[in-house]
Amino acid sequence: MHRSRAVAPLIVVGVAVFAAGAAFLSAEPPSAVSLAQKDADAKPAEAKPSSSKKAAIGRVHPGDKDAPVRLPRWWKASEPVPIVKSNCVRCHLTAGRELTAPAQDFARSVHDLHGMTCSDCHGGNRDKDESAHEPEFGFIGTKLSAHMAGCAECHDEQAETVKSGPHYWDFSKQVNLKYPVCSDCHGHHDVEKPPAEFSLKTVCRECHLNFEHDMPHAAAVAIENDRLWDVIRKVQERNVKNEKPVPDQFHQDLEAARHLTAELIHPAHKITEKQAAELNVHVQTVRGRLERWLLEDAAHSTTKSPTAHAPASKTAPSTPADRSKDAP
Ligand code: HEC
Ligand code: HEC
Ligand code: HEC
Ligand code: HEC
Ligand code: HEC
Repeated sequence: MHRSRAVAPLIVVGVAVFAAGAAFLSAEPPSAVSLAQKDADAKPAEAKPSSSKKAAIGRVHPGDKDAPVRLPRWWKASEPVPIVKSNCVRCHLTAGRELTAPAQDFARSVHDLHGMTCSDCHGGNRDKDESAHEPEFGFIGTKLSAHMAGCAECHDEQAETVKSGPHYWDFSKQVNLKYPVCSDCHGHHDVEKPPAEFSLKTVCRECHLNFEHDMPHAAAVAIENDRLWDVIRKVQERNVKNEKPVPDQFHQDLEAARHLTAELIHPAHKITEKQAAELNVHVQTVRGRLERWLLEDAAHSTTKSPTAHAPASKTAPSTPADRSKDAP
């Protein structure tokens, strides 16, 4: 499960890995110099959580965007950097492997794309490095229950739905490991940017040992959702440096599929065969569109020289309706 990772051992291992990595990769050309500059141009979309109690989200400090960032030597030029260069991001980028990993994972997650930064979840002082981790600035470190209360506060509609069912637990209390928490299914730093090894079905199976047998329709939904994410991941990888790794023309369909899936999975009630089949037709349709886009994009890029394959050309022209939706 992806929770309660012990931080201290991670840091020790991290230092070792970092040291080894540095020795290993010091032969690599320092290719990432211009990266920060390019990323600095990316405009974070304005953070608009559907129900914002945390008014300070996405508070961008002067200098955040063009603050110089130093990257570790092993950082690949192809890898994105978080959009908002808060002091948290800047220091963690070079703080060492396991302290850097969160910044790496966070880049191009849904929260990064919406102008959030580390302190929006962890608290802490954005203005002074020396007191970045002080509790008086609301720093919660890795306290899982405080984090889950944070997810619930910003996503209260979803939290209410989860609470209404048998996966219920009290978000204001110590996390009860018997029930799944938001980050079991969504991750924490890489929300909406799951790693290749992630599978929702595997998460369900950790507690529902005969998942497919006992809940065949829920399993069908989880499996179809995993297939969709396999394809979304490929699209994201192709567009990894873009401000919109998934092109605009898919957003509406994906949002709808996501919402319908959430409506079935969050309450953890019995899912009927009909509900699963209806949702899955919808999910398959979106996946089919994404797969076609990938094929067309691949065909497109082989007819051109690789250097002509600029990120901008990958985004199919958006309809006027799409554009007006994105207008500030
Ligand atoms: C000047 C460097 C620096 C800055 C700035 C910084 N960090 Fe850290 N951070 C570290 C180091 C080093 C550690 C390892 C543990 C330690 O020394 O406290 C760490 C640890 C952490 C941890 C692990 C849990 C813990 O309690 O140790 C979290 C979470 C974290 N930082 C979040 C943040 C956030 C959020 C910010 C911005 C408000 C921030 N950091 C700013 C260097 C920094
Ligand atoms: C969406 C909320 C969220 C954001 C944004 C976020 N974190 Fe975290 N972070 C978490 C949660 C949740 C945990 C895990 C708590 C646990 O499992 O014990 C965590 C854990 C950590 C840890 C401990 C090691 C680990 O990976 O589990 C570090 C270090 C850390 N975060 C640093 C950062 C930094 C640096 C940023 C900004 C680049 C950041 N976090 C942004 C929620 C967030
Ligand atoms: C400070 C507020 C805040 C916190 C804390 C926060 N989020 Fe978010 N979250 C947002 C915003 C803003 C968005 C993007 C706009 C939206 O979908 O509402 C977002 C988007 C998401 C999405 C994608 C929604 C979609 O429709 O595509 C998921 C899933 C998500 N968050 C899960 C989490 C989880 C899990 C946690 C806790 C680890 C968390 N969030 C913590 C503000 C927050
Ligand atoms: C048992 C697994 C599971 C748990 C626990 C869970 N979610 Fe979800 N959630 C999903 C799935 C599956 C989806 C739809 C697929 C996706 O991730 O896009 C989803 C979708 C969402 C969305 C976007 C869809 C929408 O409603 O528009 C948000 C936001 C979200 N979850 C937040 C949360 C928060 C906050 C928590 C904790 C209170 C939570 N989830 C707990 C599985 C879970
Ligand atoms: C961390 C453990 C855990 C994980 C992970 C988990 N569940 Fe559960 N689930 C539970 C517990 C505990 C119950 C309540 C059982 C009870 O009260 O008898 C439950 C109940 C349910 C129920 C109601 C069962 C019934 O007989 O009414 C459904 C449906 C369900 N889970 C679906 C899922 C799905 C789908 C996933 C993956 C997306 C999932 N669960 C992941 C622990 C988990």
